[in-house]
Order: sequence, then C-alpha cells, then structure tokens
Amino acid sequence: VQRRPLVAGNWKMNGSRSESATLLDGIRKGVSAASRAEVAVCPPYILIPLTAEKLAGSPAAWGGQNLSVHKSGAYTGEIAGPMLRDYGCTYVIVGHSERRTLNGETDAVVAEKYGAAQAAGLIPILCVGETLQEREANQTEAVVARQLDAVLDRHGIASFRNAVIAYEPVWAIGTGKTATPQQAQEVHRFIRSRLAVRDKAVAENTRILYGGSMKGSNAKELLAQADIDGGLIGGASLQAEEFLTICRAAD
Ligand code: G3H
Repeated sequence: VQRRPLVAGNWKMNGSRSESATLLDGIRKGVSAASRAEVAVCPPYILIPLTAEKLAGSPAAWGGQNLSVHKSGAYTGEIAGPMLRDYGCTYVIVGHSERRTLNGETDAVVAEKYGAAQAAGLIPILCVGETLQEREANQTEAVVARQLDAVLDRHGIASFRNAVIAYEPVWAIGTGKTATPQQAQEVHRFIRSRLAVRDKAVAENTRILYGGSMKGSNAKELLAQADIDGGLIGGASLQAEEFLTICRAAD
C-alpha cells in the first residue's frame, strides 16, 4: 500500500502576525513539490487568511484547529466549516485532546464535528489518545476504541476514505515525552485493525499520524514504523527549519 505521508503543524494558540508571516515564508520556501510527503499547517483562525495568502500556489495545504457543528447562524464566537473552506482550508483538526479536556468536547460532539467537516468538504484530522492514567490502568486500547467507534458508528467506515486519524497520547503532548516508536506503532496497528474489521481496503488506505513531542531529532524513527503515516506536530511546527526537518523525514 502506498499511503502518502502527511506532516501537519498544529500551531495551537501561538503566533503574532509578523512571526507567522516569517514562519509561512520559511515553509513556502522549504516545501518542495517533489516531496513524497504532504505538508499542512493549522494556524489559529485569525491567521488563516494570511496563511492562504502566503501559501497560495505552493504545495503546502492548510486547515483549521476546530470548527463549529453548525453551518451558520447565531453562534457567537464560532467558526463554521464552510468558512474554513472559503479560505482554502483542506483540513480541520477534530477532537484534539486539548479541546476534549479544556472545552469539554465529548465523543458525541467530536463525531458531530467530524460530520460537519466532511459536509463542508474538509478532511477531518480526528485525534484520539489516552491519558497517562488510562495507559497505566491498561486502558489505552479501550479508550482509543471508544473514541474511534463514536465516529465509526455515526458516520460509517466509508467516511474514512476522506479522513485522517491522529494518535496523540495525552501524556506525550507538549511534555517532551515522546512515545517510543514501538509504543506508538502498537497503538497505530490497533487503530488500523479496528478499521479493518469494518473494511480492509479503507483501513489500508487511511493515514494515521502520530502526535506528541515529535521533533526533528525523533521523527525518522517514529515515521519508520509500518503504521505511522506522518505526524501532527505542535511545538516543533513553530519554527520553519525544525518543521521542515520533520517533513523531510517523512519523505
Ligand atoms: O497537535 C499536536 C499535538 O498536540 C502535539 O503537540 O508536538 O507540542 O507535543 P506537541
């Protein structure tokens, strides 16, 4: 199977306009049309117009970090999928652990957002992953299965033809503690097998990214694992050279 690797930067709530312009210029310069890996950035909403302007015509894609479950209407402070599409977004992150934890997004809400993304023509990057407590209680697979099934049961396996999954162990996010390649691979294989129960071909073609303290120095060995098809990069996506090093490691 040839799954095209994807390296997506999740800037989270970082970046002034001028810092972001510099970062985007660096990415634009460094990203190559010839590279096997696909590159994407997910800036804060307010920087998406700048991103669209800076990356237009380049091989890099961009996306949102979140979206509303609604298409439009009286939802103060929210941004809808069609708005993201209108600004050229290809992707949108759905169910990031920070949103699950800090914004109370349940599995049901995440499934709804996943559907809203696809309805708007966006490719959801569905995040799943266990906390340290859950890992230590041997619940990793149960948690990840529950998070996946919430979407599978609602939208069906065929919806994964147009989706990306990101496995992000919560204990590895922003902590400098990366899952070992073996730990990550184990869960990635589990995720793929969970999809394969419903449809083998879809499972084989779905890209599963790893996220959690991935950086230039550890990307290669993570990306060398059979079921790791790219990365969702937080901190290390805020500097062009570091981010591009990861992108090249995925080639
Ligand atoms: O979405 C990205 C992840 O939360 C990883 O963040 O690379 O800063 O650990 P991090």
